[in-house]
Amino acid sequence: MKCALVTGSAGFIGYHLSARLLEDGWRVVGLDNLSDYYDPDLKRRRHARLAASDAFTPVIGDVSTPGHMTELMAAHRPDAVIHLAAQAGVRHSIDAPRDYVRANLVGTHEVLEGARAHPPAHLLIASTSSAYGAGTEMPYRETMKTDAQMSFYAATKKATEALAHSYAHLYGLPTTMFRFFTVYGPWGRPDMALFKFTRAILAGEPIDVYNHGNMRRDFTYVSDLVAGLAALIDVPPGDAPVSAADSLSPVAPHRIVNIGNGEPVELGRFIAAIEAATDRPAIRNLMEMQPGDVPATWADTTLLTDLLGAPLPRTDIETGVRAFVDWYQDEYAPS
Ligand SMILES: NC(=O)c1ccc[n+]([C@@H]2O[C@H](COP(=O)([O-])OP(=O)(O)OC[C@H]3O[C@@H](n4cnc5c(N)ncnc54)[C@H](O)[C@@H]3O)[C@@H](O)[C@H]2O)c1
Repeated sequence: MKCALVTGSAGFIGYHLSARLLEDGWRVVGLDNLSDYYDPDLKRRRHARLAASDAFTPVIGDVSTPGHMTELMAAHRPDAVIHLAAQAGVRHSIDAPRDYVRANLVGTHEVLEGARAHPPAHLLIASTSSAYGAGTEMPYRETMKTDAQMSFYAATKKATEALAHSYAHLYGLPTTMFRFFTVYGPWGRPDMALFKFTRAILAGEPIDVYNHGNMRRDFTYVSDLVAGLAALIDVPPGDAPVSAADSLSPVAPHRIVNIGNGEPVELGRFIAAIEAATDRPAIRNLMEMQPGDVPATWADTTLLTDLLGAPLPRTDIETGVRAFVDWYQDEYAPS
């Protein structure tokens, strides 16, 4: 049985990915520190669902603890390491930048050290669409210059791409970095718009609509994203680019891949989808743009399609939002 080490397994994406890998017959070692950035109880509930499988081994620990990742990789010798643990959130990185240095920079370095000592066949690491920063040329391609991050969160993520590149080069570690585009779906994050809007709309409270609603996001439904991630575990970077769209490093087995839907959605359509799914009207509190945020994101998914040999499934926003609202109502407002 193949073994995957998933960091951030009690997180939103880590939970879904671990569930998918267990379904696919993997043994999964899931590490998470259950940080209190948002409700740790939601993280415990996600982990408890995974622990229903005998093939899941939960580990409560911190990626940034010196030597911990090396010990875990020595003990389990994972075939794939999928590093999703991070301090996420653009807004919070203004208030608590040290959390981002510790979890994202120190933590990712510990993962790299573990992988250097006990190399997996493939190391996969989450970056973010925020790495594109101030870039206005759309859609975003992996080969574009990305040197103007707008938030400290994005800067730490961009830095992890460089840290991982150096290890891929020095130690021949096949490494794929993913730039995820606004992931949403059931078991989603309480700090993200869909969760906050749904809660407020159901409570009859106003929602904060930034940049006066003049925002577009390439929303990616979590099951679509996880299908792509799981498939790409078997596609480590080799010696040659797969196509003209490839971002493969010229000197290292290191590649950056967008995982997005490839179709930006206006904020108004997103809110209308929540109104339809909750059957309640939203009260809009129009606000200025948040510091560190960007008005639009849009993924070019050519490389992803080239690597997978077919386009990723694309759940439309109305279907995905309805699945989230159904989950939210079951979880938080049972009738
Ligand atoms: N959700 C999105 O839209 C999105 C978009 C772009 C990138 N990402 C990236 O994807 C990854 C997963 O994001 P998510 O949405 O599931 O976030 P999440 O916050 O739900 O999951 C991250 C998990 O990592 C854990 N964690 C944090 N610091 C840790 C540490 N030091 N040691 C061990 N565990 C730690 C947290 O407890 C949490 O359970 C992150 O790297 C994030 O930056 C997410």
